[in-house]
Amino acid sequence: MPLNKKIRELQEKREKVLLGGGEQAIEKQKAMGKRTARERIMSLLDENSFNEYDLFVEHDARDFDMDKKSLPSDGVIIGSGTIYGAPVAIFAQDFTVAGGSLGLMHSRKITKIMDHALKMRMPLIGINDSGGARIQEGVNSLAGYGEIFFRNTISSGVIPQISVILGPCAGGAVYSPALTDFVFVVDKISKMFITGPEVIKTVLGEEISMEDLGGARVHSEVTGNAHFFALSEEECFDQIKKLITFIPWNNGKKARVFEPAEPKPEYNINKIVPEDPTLPYDVKDVIRAIVDNSDFFEIMQLYAKNIVIGFGRMGGRTTGFVANQPLEMAGVLDVDSSDKAARFIRYCDAFNIPIITLVDLPGYLPGVDQEHAGVIRHGAKVLYAYSEATVPKLTVILRKAYGGGYIAMSSRHLRADFVFAWPSAEIAVMGPEGAANIIFRKEISSSKDPDGMRKQKVEEYKTKFANPYVAASRGYVDAVIEPSETRKFLMHSIEVSENKDVTMPAKKHGLPPF
Ligand code: HXC
Repeated sequence: MPLNKKIRELQEKREKVLLGGGEQAIEKQKAMGKRTARERIMSLLDENSFNEYDLFVEHDARDFDMDKKSLPSDGVIIGSGTIYGAPVAIFAQDFTVAGGSLGLMHSRKITKIMDHALKMRMPLIGINDSGGARIQEGVNSLAGYGEIFFRNTISSGVIPQISVILGPCAGGAVYSPALTDFVFVVDKISKMFITGPEVIKTVLGEEISMEDLGGARVHSEVTGNAHFFALSEEECFDQIKKLITFIPWNNGKKARVFEPAEPKPEYNINKIVPEDPTLPYDVKDVIRAIVDNSDFFEIMQLYAKNIVIGFGRMGGRTTGFVANQPLEMAGVLDVDSSDKAARFIRYCDAFNIPIITLVDLPGYLPGVDQEHAGVIRHGAKVLYAYSEATVPKLTVILRKAYGGGYIAMSSRHLRADFVFAWPSAEIAVMGPEGAANIIFRKEISSSKDPDGMRKQKVEEYKTKFANPYVAASRGYVDAVIEPSETRKFLMHSIEVSENKDVTMPAKKHGLPPF
């Protein structure tokens, strides 16, 4: 056959496969507000950068009349491309082909691109839109999932792994995203659950919609499974692209360095923390007053809002931020905020990203609910994550740093490299009111004017302990600084930490309180 004819034959074969599940299925996909798998890849990657592999892979199932069915590309598209020039490996499940269900060859395509991403040390992006294990393929589908989960685990901490949920992600399938670093969801489109509404109705007799069970909002606000929430696929892709600019390609590299830029003048760092220590303020304004361009890229914005995590740049370098949020529950540490912070700290540590911790918290949240929900076990994760992290650790105590909260929030004792405190810092075992009531109980109760005596003793305690100078006199705080000096001190600390080198004792692995 002449070459031209062969090329035409290839083109025709391609065109046929590129139609996926056919026009009707594509229309149905669009009617749900969803793009096709290929459109998604094209709009996420740099123009003309996508190289597709395994276009002609087909399933080889025989049962349930499957031998009579053709499933183009077996319902998943794989390949590699770039985002702002950064290489990425990608797969996207095609719901128009058998509901994006995962059979043996479908899973082999996914594991092929996962192996490729790990070998080439580049980020992996998985777009999930699938009815789960392909029922007709039985245990082969389960085997496929197992192979994916194994690779997610082995790649963890080596290459960034990003999951995008753009449709159903049902049954055991959810465990692949759950093992990855960042999960993106879109309102009304993402659905994630282990057992669907029908099973719940049958087994428990409870009625619940798919949205209320495992929609995008539920996973962003309630379960903490999702890290980024968007109102449209377009917004979601913009978030993914932005994330890619902040993280390195693999654990052997540092993130790309950008042109340094000053924070915007409207964030006046001297005026953010109120003089009255009982008043709240938005700690994100402090972050915006410190980072380049005042550009703070928040992660898990809607979950456990009493702690804030995310990326910003300091002098062009990616930096992770962990900050208590006085606007929410006075910024206490509880079960959920501990989980949120600990995982992020470990992410930064795995991927060579320095961590800045901003401290203002009254301590761990008291109460039976928290105790019984395991605040001891979950709270310990924060201590573990900070202690184990060897990336540069910089701490600024803005206001309250009481008790266990002081220790947990990247204190000198957990090997923070630099600890700074503002003059408004209050570093003590507990808050003045509680402390005075305990240590001056006798004086207060035997006084003719107990209220007056209590006030006097609270003031006494405040003067003596509720300040940064006791900690500074012991060297637990390296410098007491004016708020306006914060960026300068932090930039310098990051600069001198560039070649930080600490060695931990050899071990197979530690035992964090999972
Ligand atoms: C085979 C499937 C499928 C599946 C969907 N399809 N899910 N085929 N195996 N798991 C097919 C449908 O038969 C249909 O084919 C096409 O995909 C589109 O599906 P619809 O049901 O028409 O779409 P929709 O109404 O949008 O509903 C989507 C859905 C629903 C909610 C995902 O299809 C559904 O509930 N599927 C089953 C979900 C589930 O229970 N999965 C768990 C499997 S067990 P045609 O030919 O008609 O177009 C599992 C365990 C894994 O995953 C454990 C791993 C550890």
